[in-house]
Amino acid sequence: MRIYASEETREALPFSRLIPVLESMFKHGCTTPRRHIHDIGTPETPLTTLIMPAWSDVGFMGIKTVNIAPNNASKSLPGLFSTYTLYNRDTGEPVAQVDGNEITSRRTAAASALAAKFLASPSSSRLTLLGAGRVGSLIPYAYREVLPIEEVAVWDINPVASERLVMQLNQDGFKARAVEDLQMAVSWADAITCATLSTQPLVKGAWLSPGSHLDLIGSFTPSMREADTDAVVANALFIDTEEALEKSGDLTQPIHSGALSPDAVIGTLEDLCLRRCPTRSSQQECTVFKAVGTALEDLAAAILVHQG
Ligand SMILES: NC(=O)c1ccc[n+]([C@@H]2O[C@H](COP(=O)([O-])OP(=O)(O)OC[C@H]3O[C@@H](n4cnc5c(N)ncnc54)[C@H](O)[C@@H]3O)[C@@H](O)[C@H]2O)c1
Repeated sequence: MRIYASEETREALPFSRLIPVLESMFKHGCTTPRRHIHDIGTPETPLTTLIMPAWSDVGFMGIKTVNIAPNNASKSLPGLFSTYTLYNRDTGEPVAQVDGNEITSRRTAAASALAAKFLASPSSSRLTLLGAGRVGSLIPYAYREVLPIEEVAVWDINPVASERLVMQLNQDGFKARAVEDLQMAVSWADAITCATLSTQPLVKGAWLSPGSHLDLIGSFTPSMREADTDAVVANALFIDTEEALEKSGDLTQPIHSGALSPDAVIGTLEDLCLRRCPTRSSQQECTVFKAVGTALEDLAAAILVHQG
């Protein structure tokens, strides 16, 4: 079995190749059963394990395992470890072990860029990024593959993280700056991406400028939120998969309050890739994309790493 460590995995997943590979897998289809979630740890050492299988008729089956250990920080270890095992679907033979963290962050940024390709205005050059972590720091590079992004405004609860990313982006040809005034930064942008761990709305719908695109990545539990109710109710709403309606507080909270009907969702990423749903109805309308991630994206990325 071939082992792909983090650097090799990263190099095998350039956004120029990963975004079209995801589009093609969304068009082709893939079986993705519900993930298993197991609480394995003890009160002293909590550990949650997620097991995410996927298979398709392109010849492979894969399983991502994610171990989340919130107390690891006290041991100077990351709070999350992830591995991906790719199998030959006909024989069951394991063919590759791939770094799961790299797969997750790169496929997440690529999926957001894929949605933005369909939903953002094609002339979008100004990007505002909330969250300069593992996923957020990849977003400008993924977006640049599909939109003419030139300027990036970065906001993070931790100013050191913003400054570090701004320096990197400026070295890589973007015109980037750290910002403190969120309202101004959101109103300035053609596209806004949130990749934070926030439990309170950060972006207000009233701040979006006409025709802009809001991309929500961070909230993956009902208690997490990055946008207010107005942002998801008053604009053209898209999701990556139906799971988003059950998992993300950005959607579950407005659904429970009666402000949002699940029927308001115009389409999923699969619908967009298959061009079987409309996009924005006018140049002035804003679009919102809420993602929680899918094992389809992990499988597509792992196959790209292994087959090149
Ligand atoms: N949709 C998906 O497919 C998908 C995939 C991977 C990760 N995620 C989610 O995206 C988020 C970011 O993931 P990551 O790997 O980049 O994490 P990370 O820890 O590397 O980065 C998170 C960033 O958000 C900032 N932050 C934390 N709390 C905040 C708050 N309350 N307000 C504003 N900023 C805050 C941190 O300072 C950090 O820079 C997480 O919630 C993660 O679970 C979603």
